[in-house]
Amino acid sequence: MSIIPNGSIAKATVPELLQRKSLAADSTNKKKITCLTAYDYPTARLMDEAGVDVVLVGDSVAMVVLGYESTLPLTMEEALHHTKAVRRGVERALVVADMPFGTYQGDINEALQNAVRFVKEAGAEAVKVEGGERRLEVIARLTEAEIPVMGHVGLTPQSVNAMGGYRVQGKTAGGAEQLLRDARAVEAAGAFSIVLEGIPRELAAEITQSVRIPTIGIGAGPDCDGQILVLHDLLGLTFQESPKFARRYANLGEVISQAVREYCSDVQGGSFPSDLESYHAPSAMKGGKPIRIAR
Ligand code: KIV
Repeated sequence: MSIIPNGSIAKATVPELLQRKSLAADSTNKKKITCLTAYDYPTARLMDEAGVDVVLVGDSVAMVVLGYESTLPLTMEEALHHTKAVRRGVERALVVADMPFGTYQGDINEALQNAVRFVKEAGAEAVKVEGGERRLEVIARLTEAEIPVMGHVGLTPQSVNAMGGYRVQGKTAGGAEQLLRDARAVEAAGAFSIVLEGIPRELAAEITQSVRIPTIGIGAGPDCDGQILVLHDLLGLTFQESPKFARRYANLGEVISQAVREYCSDVQGGSFPSDLESYHAPSAMKGGKPIRIAR
């Protein structure tokens, strides 16, 4: 986050994030970019107020919120719905919408129309697409239409079937070279930043050195220009084991379960609601006709 002269925190923008990378190149005091996923109004608002730079309405919403087995079934309408909610909660961070599988891999004009919907209808300030060299054309087309694009290479969850599972990428010399080419292609096509997911930290460091746009790592080690995590991993709100790179900062799953258990026990034991948690009829009405009381 950057501080403006009156002491408040400046709005995160695409040029500001790019500038941070170029300043970082000749500074040892480099300011990392903080990113998190959000899918609804309250969490987006809380993370914006806490100072995160980029809020990604990730297609991970499909798995962590909607209960699908992968990100593949997510529809445009579902993604737009969540992006609108996030938009309402964010003032300062940059809001990036993840384009769902199938909405940008085919016809280029359809991809443009879908990206425009995220900006026009949902208020996104940028979109994210997965893939490297194969996405050159679509990234260039969206950028030309003034829609900033975040790239995403490495372990790209929308390629789960092609990859044969969620596997760390770039572990062979050939794989690493391909990823370097992918990252350069994404930059050349006009993307303003690039997510590096599930790749060796040494390769992520090399890619970070070789491109002029900020790299945002997830499972890619500490040498990227920024980091992103899925919020539900960070909060302990998932039902499967978290990946090794996902540091858990809270255990909200347990907090929620405990709160619900206590509530059920209080209702069943008659201690909720108490008299203090109840409305009372005005004394003049006591014993009279039932009255309607506003909340
Ligand atoms: O959908 C998502 O949450 C993502 C991040 C993991 C980068 O794409």
